[in-house]
Amino acid sequence: MAPVVLLIFSVLSHLVVLHYAVEDGHNTHCPAYLCNEKVGSIGFPFKNKTHSPECGLYTVDCSDRSSPKIQLKEEGYWFEFESITQLNSVSIKDDEPERLLKSDDCNDDTFDMLSLPSSSPIVHVFAHNLTLFKCPNDTSTLDEETSFRKQCGNANHTYYTTASNTSPAPHNCSIIYLPAPDLTLHGFPKWPARFTLQLVVTKECNECYVKGGVCQNDMGEFKCANIVKGDKSLRLKLGLGN
Ligand SMILES: *[C@@H]1O[C@H](CO)[C@@H](O)[C@H](O)[C@H]1NC(C)=O
Ligand SMILES: *[C@@H]1O[C@H](CO)[C@@H](O)[C@H](O)[C@H]1NC(C)=O
Ligand SMILES: *[C@@H]1O[C@H](CO)[C@@H](O)[C@H](O)[C@H]1NC(C)=O
Ligand SMILES: *[C@@H]1O[C@H](CO)[C@@H](O)[C@H](O)[C@H]1NC(C)=O
Ligand SMILES: *[C@@H]1O[C@H](CO)[C@@H](O)[C@H](O)[C@H]1NC(C)=O
Repeated sequence: MAPVVLLIFSVLSHLVVLHYAVEDGHNTHCPAYLCNEKVGSIGFPFKNKTHSPECGLYTVDCSDRSSPKIQLKEEGYWFEFESITQLNSVSIKDDEPERLLKSDDCNDDTFDMLSLPSSSPIVHVFAHNLTLFKCPNDTSTLDEETSFRKQCGNANHTYYTTASNTSPAPHNCSIIYLPAPDLTLHGFPKWPARFTLQLVVTKECNECYVKGGVCQNDMGEFKCANIVKGDKSLRLKLGLGN
């Protein structure tokens, strides 16, 4: 009798844990992190430097409590931020990028570092932005097209804006999004004193997180990696109950 009771108890408790995880939207090994009094507690899709990769898509650093920072992409710039709402709207206030853009006129690395992440099967990103086309330096045919406007150039690339933000990228050009003030700009980027980034995690990625997996963008296809570990522990627990 006892083993059966144990088994039932084990299954039930596991279900409770699973149910709790779903309800709460938290992984048990991804504890919320208190950033500072103003920002409050941070959880998925945000993690801190010591959390493991499945705990978040963006890393925050609150070691300087008065000016917490967030990294929007790997190897990217650490932006000073003011707040993060319950609905994952991140308010960024940082004037250093303005200085960086000014000090080096048209630098590929600066643009790469400061550009916003684009939407993916993992997360949809919404921000007022200036869309820049980064083209090889020999794409001078674009200069004659009235819909494109040359903004700046260096030895390797020329950067263009367009009148309509929805134009597809010309051949051999890639797209770069820079934050812009709420009003549409026609001139060259003036770094906004403040901007807001709305991050909407896809249903697939939320489900993956709850299962303890890592959300991945596999060439435009969503992939939930590392989920095997969770399965194993489930089987292990059921095995113990026997
Ligand atoms: C990250 O958050 C965890 C959980 O709150 C905490 O134990 C850890 O010290 C934090 N790491 C850093 C670098 O703040
Ligand atoms: C930038 O603006 C364009 C046009 O409004 C939009 O399609 C794109 O998703 C935006 N990019 C980001 C990162 O918000
Ligand atoms: C374009 O790039 C090539 C190769 O990097 C270089 O040789 C050439 O001088 C550049 N042209 C201009 C106009 O900067
Ligand atoms: C242009 O590209 C070459 C080769 O990739 C690189 O060595 C050089 O630093 C680049 N120049 C600029 C201005 O980015
Ligand atoms: C794109 O790049 C390829 C290879 O470098 C070149 O042959 C082609 O002419 C380029 N297309 C345009 C529109 O510049």
